[in-house]
Amino acid sequence: MTNIDFEKIVDTSNEWITSRTGIKERHIANADMTTADMAVQAAMRAMEMARCEKEEIDLVICGTVTPDYRLPSNACLIQERLGLTNAVAFDVVAACTGFIKGLVIANSHIETGLHKKALIIGVEKLSAVTNYKDRTTCVLFGDGAGAVVVEPSTNGCGMISSFMKSDGRLWQLLWMKVGGVKNPYTTDFDYNGSDKIYMNGADVFKVAVKEMANAVEVVLEKAGVASSDIALFVPHQANLRIIDALAKRLKIEPERVFKNIERYGNTSAASVPIALDEANREGKIKPGDYVVVVAFGGGLIWGAALIKW
Ligand code: ACO
Repeated sequence: MTNIDFEKIVDTSNEWITSRTGIKERHIANADMTTADMAVQAAMRAMEMARCEKEEIDLVICGTVTPDYRLPSNACLIQERLGLTNAVAFDVVAACTGFIKGLVIANSHIETGLHKKALIIGVEKLSAVTNYKDRTTCVLFGDGAGAVVVEPSTNGCGMISSFMKSDGRLWQLLWMKVGGVKNPYTTDFDYNGSDKIYMNGADVFKVAVKEMANAVEVVLEKAGVASSDIALFVPHQANLRIIDALAKRLKIEPERVFKNIERYGNTSAASVPIALDEANREGKIKPGDYVVVVAFGGGLIWGAALIKW
């Protein structure tokens, strides 16, 4: 769906969207395609790339705020569809940081020897919860999925350090009012968008830049790695201006910053794994490189990880 398509449905312009967000197009899943459908595609390709047999996967973590059902978890649906019968599967609800949080959990399970091979997926069908009458949010979001497989390493590669934090006092900056236990759906009621994503973008923007910069500084400091040592910086793709402001604060030149927001918009938990996968397939990450991932989302919650590829 392009910016021009949005000009036809809300009072906006290609010029406004491009200059304020960096987004030119985003992918919208077909009505009959669910979050689990997209997740399964991504998971299959990750397992293929990792040359991993389904019997080997013993942990499945899915980061999403748009699961197919409220019960069971999306991860269990993915487990069933892929026949991962040796695994335990569960979801992480951490908005745009859902994938990174899943990675951090998998890392700790692997470090303690609890699990040996984990499949982590970040997936969203945000189009299902986007208010296409609200020009301040609808132009931002897209659908997508990304996945990785992780296992114990013997050569010092893997997750070197991580940092996660949230501030629950700011939950109303980015939320969905209707659909949970507090405000359940009732029939014959015009929700007027209150069952879709609400966001105070300007306030979220300010916290995002400050806290993501801090999270990256913490993971680098913990590991004793300088920002000049980062081969590739892979931030959550929410807004080009956020990415640029963040990179400037961290003194990371544009050549070392991965960006694909122009083509996907903000895909929440799917954003970082899609970016990682594209960077990897484009040969932008080599074995032994330091890669930093960072994300920020509704909660508010944010987190970063330093990975030796
Ligand atoms: N087209 C035209 N005008 C618009 C549009 C639009 N699509 N959207 C907003 N405007 C208008 C506003 O109404 C406002 O007009 P006014 O001054 O007459 O009131 C003006 O543009 C400026 O609005 P702002 O909200 O101040 O615009 P801003 O520059 O802050 O950009 C944006 C808005 C893009 C949402 C930005 O604030 C942002 O990216 N915020 C962070 C989003 C984010 O990172 N979210 C976290 C993850 S999302 C998740 O967890 C699912």
